[in-house]
Amino acid sequence: MNFHSRKWVKPEDLNANHTLFGGSLLRWIDEEAAIYAIIQLGNERTVTKYMSEINFVSSARQGDIIEMGIAPVEWGRTSLTLKAVVRNVFTGEVIISIDKIVMVALDGDGNPKPHGYSSVTYARDRVPHRLVPRRAHDAPELAASMDETHEWPVV
Ligand SMILES: CC(C)(COP(=O)(O)OP(=O)(O)OC[C@H]1O[C@@H](n2cnc3c(N)ncnc32)[C@H](O)[C@@H]1OP(=O)(O)O)[C@@H](O)C(=O)NCCC(=O)NCCS
Repeated sequence: MNFHSRKWVKPEDLNANHTLFGGSLLRWIDEEAAIYAIIQLGNERTVTKYMSEINFVSSARQGDIIEMGIAPVEWGRTSLTLKAVVRNVFTGEVIISIDKIVMVALDGDGNPKPHGYSSVTYARDRVPHRLVPRRAHDAPELAASMDETHEWPVV
């Protein structure tokens, strides 16, 4: 599992016990899972359907840094099931691990949409084609270099 994202625990993220507020952590995890699923499924209308048991086993204090890891567990027809682990970088302790986060790709009407993928991509090759012209318009040099490296699909 790769731990890509880190967060700095700030005063607004604390509970009455002056430790990390669970709601902040869940918001960070949900966003991390959504970003992961959107890039993997090539569908920006990907939503959280289900999360398994939430068990906060340790915490973090103001000023601590936490890191979040996400990995795929199961590729479904319209869904991607992920697992997540969050660790305290300073203490090394696991704060929470979630065995199952089910993300579902939707169509324009909000119905589940088959994504057609069954393995991880490490590139940006699943970004929807319709979004590429926007990038080309905003940053043509960047778009051109990405096309050369085949990181982005050529329209
Ligand atoms: C996502 C949503 C469209 C799914 O609708 P649905 O009627 O359950 O759709 P389906 O039964 O076709 O299930 C879609 C996929 O989710 C999976 N799924 C549905 N319920 C599940 C559950 N309780 N646990 C695990 N997976 C589940 C199904 O197995 C299916 O996966 P697959 O296509 O890969 O086999 C609908 O529930 C919804 O809009 N929920 C709100 C989502 C949302 O807004 N989340 C943000 C937080 S509020």
